[in-house]
Amino acid sequence: MAKIEAKIDHREMLCVETAAGPTGFVVFGASGDLAHRKLYTSLYELYRRELMSQCFYLIGCGRSQYSHEAFREAVKKNILVSDHTTDEQKLAEFISRFYYLSGDYSQTQLYQDICDLTTELDAKYCLDGNRIFYLSVPPFLYETIIEKLGELHLMCPAASGQIENVRLVIEKPFGRDLDSARRLDEKLLLYFDESQIYRIDHYLGKETVQNLLIFRFANSIFEPLWNRNFIEHVQINIAESVGLEHRAGYYDKSGALRDMFQNHMLQMLAMVAMEPPVSFAADSVRDEKAKLLRSIRPVTANQVDQFFVRGQYGPGVVDGKEARGYLAEEGVPTGSKTETFVAGKLFIDNWRWKDVPFYLRTGKRLSRKLTEIIITFKQVPHSMFDTSDLVDIPQNTLRFQIQPNEGMYLSLQAKRPGSKICMSNLDMAVDYQKVFGVKMPEAYQRLLLDCMLGDQTLFTRRDSVEIAWQLLMPVLESWRNDGQKLNVYPAGASKVNFLDKIEKETLFSLK
Ligand code: BG6
Repeated sequence: MAKIEAKIDHREMLCVETAAGPTGFVVFGASGDLAHRKLYTSLYELYRRELMSQCFYLIGCGRSQYSHEAFREAVKKNILVSDHTTDEQKLAEFISRFYYLSGDYSQTQLYQDICDLTTELDAKYCLDGNRIFYLSVPPFLYETIIEKLGELHLMCPAASGQIENVRLVIEKPFGRDLDSARRLDEKLLLYFDESQIYRIDHYLGKETVQNLLIFRFANSIFEPLWNRNFIEHVQINIAESVGLEHRAGYYDKSGALRDMFQNHMLQMLAMVAMEPPVSFAADSVRDEKAKLLRSIRPVTANQVDQFFVRGQYGPGVVDGKEARGYLAEEGVPTGSKTETFVAGKLFIDNWRWKDVPFYLRTGKRLSRKLTEIIITFKQVPHSMFDTSDLVDIPQNTLRFQIQPNEGMYLSLQAKRPGSKICMSNLDMAVDYQKVFGVKMPEAYQRLLLDCMLGDQTLFTRRDSVEIAWQLLMPVLESWRNDGQKLNVYPAGASKVNFLDKIEKETLFSLK
């Protein structure tokens, strides 16, 4: 196979990453799973790579009682799980900057304690009030914390600072429907400026998702083809092998449409289909994304069955072992109708994409983890080869694989060596990790670094969140009224057949 190499050229000089400036973190929900699995490990990786400032500290807040020392030990233990060969000295330095405050999120006392401790630590670590408040708590606590931060003026900068230097990070879900998303935004904007709000969608931190922009807008050969004249359809698939992972309380009230489709999938769609932004500045990119989302053809409640299907996993076999169905999972209410699989067919009503179907599908408890975007080009108009009918000439596809390994695959037709004219599929494959010889960074690392640098490009803006909810409201309403049968697929399935309700030739099939 031909070897593909990334050529390191003089532009390498421009790729030196910018280190963050002085930052004090205040994390709500500090002892939670997300904070331990993603936040601290990513911050540590940035610290190890010298991308954190030496003027840095982190205050964890939560209802559990911890001493500073016990909190540091818990953080250390979790970092060692993911990186057991790390330099002990470095890790000790890192966790020495961690502090803990326990308290009730609805009581003013906790916020006064935060005020006192940040003042003390700003002096100790030479900070000028640059701060990131990170909400790693269940969404029902968002409004309480936002109100308290606002009332106690904790989001206001120090005398010499600028408003953008005090930031708030919130995790999805941003509301559970259009009304609640608007209420949340109103509450946020009562106290903060949009320039202070960083809504995390971790899919936007994934390398291949960002690479889509370079691929589309730094190569001149594909963009002329990137439209309805050459592309037949586009698929965005996120298959997961995991099930609920002890999150039944959250998941059963969400389902796949709210958990994955409203955010990760529509954001990826926007990256694939948006018009070229004027520049890579945060608002240029986010304006184009919002414009694209606004162009998606709305689906009315009585059209939902034509454009969306939902499913739930039943009992099945995973990794050769019997696996229970969703209804038998711990914490799932009897008879729950929550969907663990959703597929939708969307159209974008604009000049570029008119009548090109976009198939978006996601499901839990499938045979394997696979996230990919597949662009299928139109068939050649005529076969001039005696040996092949038109149907025997497969369409070209360009596939961006986001997980498990990040890469890009272009399928072409080529002549098989020999005297006869025979065709063969030729796959040009690029595995980023192999080509660039580096481990792909965890999405949170990129997003946390951007947040410390004050770059909002990869964070979701208010308008995009609300447009996405608006689009999906008829689907949520139709499903709430039980307007559509819930299909069942076996846990561990590699093919989900009920999808032929949407389109036969694009069955969701994991090879
Ligand atoms: C989260 C969802 O946003 O994304 C989870 O809440 C899902 O249900 C996860 O499992 C998938 O993320 P990743 O990065 O593992 O594909």
